[in-house]
Amino acid sequence: MSSKPIHALAQKLNADLAAGGSVVPSLLSQRGLRAYFPSQGILGQSAEARGSRINATIGTAFEDDGSPLSLECIEAMLLTPPDSFLYAPSQGLPALRARWREMLFEKSPSLLGRTCSLPVVTSALTHALYVTGLLFLDPGDTVILPDLYWDNYELIFQEGCGARLKTFKTFRGRHFNVPALERQLGGRGEKKIVLLNFPNNPTGYTATEEEALALRDVLLRAAEGGKRLLVILDDAYFGLVYEKGVYRESLFGLLANLHPNLLTVKLDGPTKEDYVWGMRVGFVTYGMQGAGAPHYQALEAKTAGLVRMTISNANNMGQHLLLQAFAHPDYARQKQVKFATLEARYRRIRQILRRHPEYRESFAAMPFNSGYFMCVRPAGVLADALRRLLVAEYQTGAIVQSGLLRLAFSSVPLDRLDELFANLDAAVRQLKATT
Ligand SMILES: Cc1ncc(COP(=O)(O)O)c(C=O)c1O
Repeated sequence: MSSKPIHALAQKLNADLAAGGSVVPSLLSQRGLRAYFPSQGILGQSAEARGSRINATIGTAFEDDGSPLSLECIEAMLLTPPDSFLYAPSQGLPALRARWREMLFEKSPSLLGRTCSLPVVTSALTHALYVTGLLFLDPGDTVILPDLYWDNYELIFQEGCGARLKTFKTFRGRHFNVPALERQLGGRGEKKIVLLNFPNNPTGYTATEEEALALRDVLLRAAEGGKRLLVILDDAYFGLVYEKGVYRESLFGLLANLHPNLLTVKLDGPTKEDYVWGMRVGFVTYGMQGAGAPHYQALEAKTAGLVRMTISNANNMGQHLLLQAFAHPDYARQKQVKFATLEARYRRIRQILRRHPEYRESFAAMPFNSGYFMCVRPAGVLADALRRLLVAEYQTGAIVQSGLLRLAFSSVPLDRLDELFANLDAAVRQLKATT
């Protein structure tokens, strides 16, 4: 970390964040305190020169007629306006940010009447997680999360930010383990960072309506008790919920304006929501009770500063494509069709598990109700030995994590699911017979 004094622009943002006695500055990491958007450098000077008859400020190339200087062979393939050859702003395309926020309110009606920042565009969720880590995590800080989590959190938060992951058991019986989270929120340390991911990777579990409210209450109690909380919501698989009674909105609606000691940051994007894994566009959005425009704008500026620091700006063609897709008259229907494809696989798995009680001798299905995945706990055999046998002799691939086998039904055709589970059962029986 630099030993230079904090930049004047960062100081200004910190002052904005502190307005009204807000706890936000005390949640920021050292790097977060130093972060600022360089609005007075090249970007600021370019902005001032915008519209000049001769504009020699911009580090992109233009033809003599003022259009982007681009290769005709790429232009011929272009599905978006020629402007998408240029850089997007580090904050993201204004129209996309506005539209995504509008869609957040449509997707989570509990947000109505509440406030949140404009989303800042990142290079998909991985980058959104990293930027959040940079902004809020100092080396040695602890992130509290369930023990079944996406393994890339280790690289991002531990290796990338020097933080520690402190886990609690995800399930208590067949339920999300809200009491275990509450226990972790007790104890010493005024600043607590919590990471929740629903629908979850790897379990495919989303909190039920009851559990979502219980999570809210636990976090509220901690905030009322004086803890300063940052809650990170990884909403990568938002919307893929297949059962009644499961919380269908983002927890953001419940948490965004809950208490002035609780800052919620929602990380989401089209990667899984809109089935565009390689597009690399994501969003970071903040919500906090008592936060006003200066707080939100300062958080957006710091976040955009870290986007500028790490990738300069996110994929412009991807952002344009998304804007076009969201305005497409058939967007909602097509999304429903893709959802139905995944839902049908989910229902088939439920049916297979019901029709084959004998499979319970070989494996137990963990709770699942949403997302791309489900997990099974092999009975009496080691998960990795099972995985290797499945690949070697059954032409069947699965992922081992924490003694479980993760099955991505998102990538298995409906008519292969029976075979997948039959193979699992047969492989467990074979292993048991030979060991
Ligand atoms: C829980 C979770 N969060 C984030 C990501 C990363 O998403 P992206 O591809 O948008 O970076 C994944 C991808 O697998 C994930 O499972």
